[in-house]
Amino acid sequence: MKNFKRYLITSALPYANGPLHIGHLAGVYVPSDIYTRYLRMKGADVISICGSDEHGVPITLKARKEGISPQEVVDRYHTLNKKAFEDFGIAFDIYSRTSNKVHYDTASDFFLKIYNKGEFTEKISEQYYDEEAASFLADRYITGTCPHCGNENAYGDQCEKCGTSLSPNDLINPRSTISGSKPVLRETLHWYLPLDKYEGWLKKWILEDHKEWKTNVYGQCKSWIDQGLQPRAVSRDLDWGVPVPVEGAKGKVLYVWFDAPIGYISATKELTADWEKYWKDPETKMVHFIGKDNIVFHCIIFPAMLKAEGSFILPENVPANEFLNLENDKISTSRNWAVWLHEYLEEFPGKQDVLRYTLCSNAPETKDNDFTWKDFQARNNNELVAILGNFVNRTLVLTGKYYDGRVPERGITDENDNSVLKEISKIRENVESSIETFRFREALREAMNLARLGNKYLADAEPWKIDKTDPERVKTIMNIALQITANLTIILEPFLPFSMSKLRNWINIDLKKWDEAGNIDILKPGHAINKPDLLFEKIEDEAIKKQISKLESTKKVNESASSKVMPSKDQVTFEDFTKVDIRTATILEAEKVPKTTKLLKLKIDTGLDIRTIVSGIAEYYEPETIIGRQISIVANLEPRKIKGIESKGMILMAEDKEGRLVMVTPAEKVSNGSPIK
Ligand code: 2FM
Ligand code: ZN
Repeated sequence: MKNFKRYLITSALPYANGPLHIGHLAGVYVPSDIYTRYLRMKGADVISICGSDEHGVPITLKARKEGISPQEVVDRYHTLNKKAFEDFGIAFDIYSRTSNKVHYDTASDFFLKIYNKGEFTEKISEQYYDEEAASFLADRYITGTCPHCGNENAYGDQCEKCGTSLSPNDLINPRSTISGSKPVLRETLHWYLPLDKYEGWLKKWILEDHKEWKTNVYGQCKSWIDQGLQPRAVSRDLDWGVPVPVEGAKGKVLYVWFDAPIGYISATKELTADWEKYWKDPETKMVHFIGKDNIVFHCIIFPAMLKAEGSFILPENVPANEFLNLENDKISTSRNWAVWLHEYLEEFPGKQDVLRYTLCSNAPETKDNDFTWKDFQARNNNELVAILGNFVNRTLVLTGKYYDGRVPERGITDENDNSVLKEISKIRENVESSIETFRFREALREAMNLARLGNKYLADAEPWKIDKTDPERVKTIMNIALQITANLTIILEPFLPFSMSKLRNWINIDLKKWDEAGNIDILKPGHAINKPDLLFEKIEDEAIKKQISKLESTKKVNESASSKVMPSKDQVTFEDFTKVDIRTATILEAEKVPKTTKLLKLKIDTGLDIRTIVSGIAEYYEPETIIGRQISIVANLEPRKIKGIESKGMILMAEDKEGRLVMVTPAEKVSNGSPIK
């Protein structure tokens, strides 16, 4: 493996259009923080870069919805999110923002460098334009029906229902998000990065030279490359963003996905005058921490931009995670289905590490995973309290009681003592190799094995039973338990920084270097420790129930908001109603109407007669499954010819809000022809 001189860690710049939630922490920021803290403890030259992504249509849409300016939106969420990261101990060296001047300058220069090399292609194309709003409709300014899944509210850049990435011209029945009107096509000029030109290079760089990337990342890249790369527009007709810095580009800005990753560079410039060594020296290892929806941008588009510019290094790895769900449902800002970080801290003050621990233990590293409040409680009560907390508490309380808080001498050690002491280095090595290969769940499990080891050691040795009869042996046991405790403050530091800082205060030591883990004489005999407190507290059922019921209320609010109940129809007289002959009937035969997808031809027994009805239910029912089914029909509807078949009457169906049709069947069997009134 190549040895690098320094590390540049970037974490996806979150959009400043909403607060951060547990999905952000689990997918991107906890892993990046663990990695960074570990490298710092190794003594590496490392910088960790992040900031707010303040451009793009999601921000202008939010501003429009709230009747405020985009700048007000990003100011609000930049402040909130910066604080949330600080509160959770996500230790970036800088948390910058893309509305800074340094970013505008950096992004413009970057564009110009590629432009002046003649690497962009310019193309006039027809794009949707809202005549009422006098505006082109970029990305999410346009919605319509997804051609893949039929979702009527797909965006111009993506269908959130089936996940397909789209372009506005793919949408069926496009509508403007601004005015709701039907847009027209108008010609407009844009600049394109010809990804097709980089296809061969990307194929080699990723598919041959980076086979070590996580399978989810490698697989996504392969599938993009295999489908063939197309030129990508790097500009948009919008008035919020970094203006395209060439003549004749009035009203055009850089596409947010062009300017955002350049934000990593501008934030580094803001952090240090020595920024170039991090970005231009091949001895720097650059690692991008992101979520899976960002893979194509960080593995294909940004590297192609860096390559086109020509003077920058490329990422060595992009350890993207999958998504975290919440109680079996996709986390969603618009449906308020999330655990917001700022709210968590109000409900569980001081418990940042419990959330960090739960999210890392259950991180969506190889597949989507689920966060549940019950699991959160179990991780806290059964692992942090019962194993780590219990071990540390017993060790420190007994040291206080037996030795007035002074570390005792370690006397003669037996075989078990020696193997426990040796195990510490092994655990360190295992944690190290898991962190270096971005397997943070495994790393944490292994790190907790040190607490397990200590807990078991004390439970087996039972010093409290022999403190009167064999005080020398007790000194040895307690010395070993204290050395394990000191090692815990090193090995668990990247994962649980708040708790380890407390623990260091109690045992009265400073933060050690990573490589000191394995040292079994960190605490010298006679060293004084302080009075401890509880490292973790049990979380009671009540607190968990409160969170679950909060989510249940959210679900109810969402359900009632989304149930599109048909508006009430005009009143009819009773006499009018009685004119309709609604009655029960039974399906005797059913078959598909040839050359149609929706129609079934049904033979039914109405009690009055046996007749044929053609019904548009073929998408919902297989013919053979409905034979013998009792249904409700309108028996006196004027006969109609459908596909050449005479249909006499109509089957009553309930249509739900997704447009699904369900037969209306009497709750109990009744004779055919029973009137429904
Ligand atoms: O998906 C997102 O939240 C984007 N704002 C991430 C941008 S990452 C980088 F390129 F800046
Ligand atoms: Zn779709």
